[in-house]
Amino acid sequence: MIGKDLEIAKQLLENGEVVAIPTETVYGLAGNALNPISVTKIFQIKERPRFDPLIVHTHSVEAMRPFLKEVPPRAEQLFEAFSPGALTILLPRSQRIPDLVTAGLERVAVRIPNHPLTLELLRQLDFPLAAPSANPFGYISPTSAEHVAAQLGKRIPYILDGGPAVVGIESTIVGFEEEKTVIYRKGGIPVEAIEAMIGPVDVRQTSSSSPAAPGMLRSHYAPTVPLELGDLEALQAARQGVQLGVLSFQRFVPGIPEAHQRVLSPAGDLAEAARGLFAAMRELDALPIELIIAELLPEEGLGRAINDRLRRAAMAAKN
Ligand code: TXA
Ligand code: MG
Repeated sequence: MIGKDLEIAKQLLENGEVVAIPTETVYGLAGNALNPISVTKIFQIKERPRFDPLIVHTHSVEAMRPFLKEVPPRAEQLFEAFSPGALTILLPRSQRIPDLVTAGLERVAVRIPNHPLTLELLRQLDFPLAAPSANPFGYISPTSAEHVAAQLGKRIPYILDGGPAVVGIESTIVGFEEEKTVIYRKGGIPVEAIEAMIGPVDVRQTSSSSPAAPGMLRSHYAPTVPLELGDLEALQAARQGVQLGVLSFQRFVPGIPEAHQRVLSPAGDLAEAARGLFAAMRELDALPIELIIAELLPEEGLGRAINDRLRRAAMAAKN
């Protein structure tokens, strides 16, 4: 069931159930982070391997302290600047976080999502919420309640509808390795914004198949239809006779039906492109086409996170 009733969501969560919740990045599949039974349900519903850890969501830095050994000054500074928002930080966990949540790792991922409904829900609950993106493992993250319903609607009792996600790509994941600040996943807070705050960071290529590395599995964000990246006109010329879909930044490609094309931002606005990216991929995936051709965006700001998702989708198609 889809609805906007906080009370229903709250009661289900208090009873150990799993509920889809809106955030500004993507929808999450949430359960009581302190209850291993709820956390197990999340893994089962998503068909996610247990070695891939979950992000723990709270409404404030104060609310996350009991679950952390410490909040170092750099983390305080980043939360101060970017939270609530699309920022996740890996910090040493306290004993109160079940092993299942972190896949046994010593650090737990924590985030304060910026969505009024979900912030209010978190304030009303007396436990934090573990939540991965609310998609089946390996598929494109959902940016609307309808996206969640399309795939997980039958497996979960409630989808809290907070409208379309306003950022549209997942949070930026940051951690600290001795003196270094490391970005493990490019996301809704641009690398440049973080560097402006705390100086140069290392950006890790997260192509590992083991999140202990840590980070993400390679074949994420994958549509079912194969996706190829490059110059759109050149790809079109090379794929004569193939039913093509197009994912472009600013303009339609001549010679391909416009109904089979998605333009992310005619004005060239990266935030608008990020907001519409996953919906565009889902729409293209539902068309009677054989191949999606897509182009990279400028490698700056949110463009870096968008390009990361496009590269992963293209890589998945090759596997
Ligand atoms: O924007 C987001 O971050 C969304 C919303 C719902 O908050 N959540 C999200 O969760 O994208 P998920 O599970 O789809 O992606 C989280 C990534 C995973 O790839 C996981 O491997 C990594 O974060 N991660 C989580 N906990 C970790 C940890 N303790 N150490 C290393 N990586 C971790
Ligand atoms: Mg995910």
